[in-house]
Amino acid sequence: MPRLQIVIASTRPGRVGPAVATWAAAEAGRHGGFEIETVDLAEADLPFFDEPGHPSEGAYVHQHTKDWSATVSRGDAYLFVMPMYNGAFTAPLKNAIDFLYQEWQDKPVALLSYTAGPSGGVPAVEMLRPILTRIGFRAAQRSLSVPGVGELTDPADPSVFHAPADLAGDLKGVLDELTELLAPLDASDAAQV
Ligand SMILES: Cc1cc2nc3c(=O)[nH]c(=O)nc-3n(C[C@H](O)[C@H](O)[C@H](O)COP(=O)(O)O)c2cc1C
Repeated sequence: MPRLQIVIASTRPGRVGPAVATWAAAEAGRHGGFEIETVDLAEADLPFFDEPGHPSEGAYVHQHTKDWSATVSRGDAYLFVMPMYNGAFTAPLKNAIDFLYQEWQDKPVALLSYTAGPSGGVPAVEMLRPILTRIGFRAAQRSLSVPGVGELTDPADPSVFHAPADLAGDLKGVLDELTELLAPLDASDAAQV
């Protein structure tokens, strides 16, 4: 079964990212099409990009890069759970993407964005999408956005996320699209056997 990595793209103390990601992981588990792994950028604890070579060469000198490469290589598809900061994707997410290159190639990716405000992070998604395509991801057309995340979470209990009623159905559609994006890869693997 393909492995979906749910990547938590915020790293600050008190963040709601883990609550949203925990909900997404449970729903993705119910979908049944993926083995689920949650990847927390706070735990990856990457410094700002510090490799001397271009990541496409894969000649990593730092252990943190080798560890991050091993983590991402386990994934067959990704769901980035990402807040919008000042109208954009988070710096830790872009940094974590920049560290690697071959590991991302041809891998399906979808985006679940959220904000305190009314946009749901759609501007950040639209900003990130061409970058993902440029790097070589297969970016899903469908994405998910959650506005007003402060009303859906509990500052006293960071594990709580009260998902809007239609979000689970929308997530299923996104996961179905990731499955479709994986299908040509499965076919080419089979052709090589
Ligand atoms: C640095 C920073 C910038 C933010 N910028 C925006 C923004 O542009 N629009 C918005 O609606 N909310 C913005 N917020 C509020 C976040 O959407 C809200 O704090 C959310 O919980 C952030 O995700 P996190 O808790 O996982 O870090 C910002 C928050 C931070 C910390």
